[in-house]
Amino acid sequence: MTDTLTVLGIESSCDDTAAAVVRLNGTADVLSSVVYGQTALHADFGGVVPEIAARAHAEKLDHCVEDALSQANLTLSDLDGIAVTAGPGLIGGVLSGVMCAKGLSAATGIPLIGVNHLAGHALTPRLTDVIAYPFLMLLVSGGHCQFLIAKGPDDFKRLGGTIDDAPGEAFDKTARILGLPQPGGPSVEKAAANGDPKRFKLPRPLLDREGCDMSFSGLKTAMLRARDGVVAEKQGLTQADQADLCAGFQSAITDVLVEKSRRALTEYLKLNPTTPTLAVAGGVAANTAIRAGLQDLCAKHDVAFTAPPLALCTDNAAMIAYVGLTRLAKNDVDDLTLSARPRWPLDNTAAPMLGFGKKGAKA
Ligand code: KG4
Ligand code: ZN
Repeated sequence: MTDTLTVLGIESSCDDTAAAVVRLNGTADVLSSVVYGQTALHADFGGVVPEIAARAHAEKLDHCVEDALSQANLTLSDLDGIAVTAGPGLIGGVLSGVMCAKGLSAATGIPLIGVNHLAGHALTPRLTDVIAYPFLMLLVSGGHCQFLIAKGPDDFKRLGGTIDDAPGEAFDKTARILGLPQPGGPSVEKAAANGDPKRFKLPRPLLDREGCDMSFSGLKTAMLRARDGVVAEKQGLTQADQADLCAGFQSAITDVLVEKSRRALTEYLKLNPTTPTLAVAGGVAANTAIRAGLQDLCAKHDVAFTAPPLALCTDNAAMIAYVGLTRLAKNDVDDLTLSARPRWPLDNTAAPMLGFGKKGAKA
């Protein structure tokens, strides 16, 4: 095996069809990262429709892979590996990606690597920064929310997570009930910038419970009630009402994530890491207020804080290619019996927490 390794990544576990090429040559370089979103396809349905998502992935994957290779100025023959998200996620979408990767691998003889989507998010900080193991990871997206101690590329200990919805789901629902566009996170964040976070008294669920488990479904309901209260009083919502509701919601989520991160940090620091680091990843990690809250927390505890660039927080295939590279470097590859998994927890020793959410299987 040469020192330079080049891997194509393929991601299709939810509503983004993505392909990327990452090269490891001392450091990891993202040579290309292409994401075809599906927002418009699901817009009329108030959430991701699994069958529509799977069909769209199947239609777009070939083009997406071609784009990623051409933007990297490479052809299939330049690749050392083909990494694909093999779970967890919406099974139809995951299958589309796995079938595409298997086809490419079978036709070319290039090794196939089935990657855990959550590992992709969790290791993204190592793709973009020099971070030593162990580090504490807050993985927070549309389908997931968990604290993990990353001890190695395939050694994770889950400290806690959401017992119901993921924060991204709550952002999306909030946008929906306020008539803001999807995906909800960016539109709620934008509206919140002009709002008063104190006008509406919203709950901070589970802060009274020890540990770092979280819950966000009650906050969604509280938002609905708050909106209904304003509508009943004024027969509608002004832009200022919308902004105040968004600001209140974002501040509640931030408070919960920061306080639970403080507790997770206490656990993690017991391991005495030499360079303690909190990393955040997943779509919700794109939120500036949440990033700022976590940054402050880390500054207070003398812990380094890292968050990947926004494009690598939301679903992408560079993170999948990167995990593929770490596996390929150890010659840890799969064969054509690789199967798609709707569930695939990173910490097999932790009790399962969740069922299926709107944005797919959770772990
Ligand atoms: O990681 P991701 O792309 O997909 C999943 O694996 O779920 O995360 C998508 C989620 C969506 O719920 C979206 O609303 C949320 O991330 N999101 C944000 C922001 N940007 C995306 N949430 C809050 N603030 C943002 N700026
Ligand atoms: Zn994701």
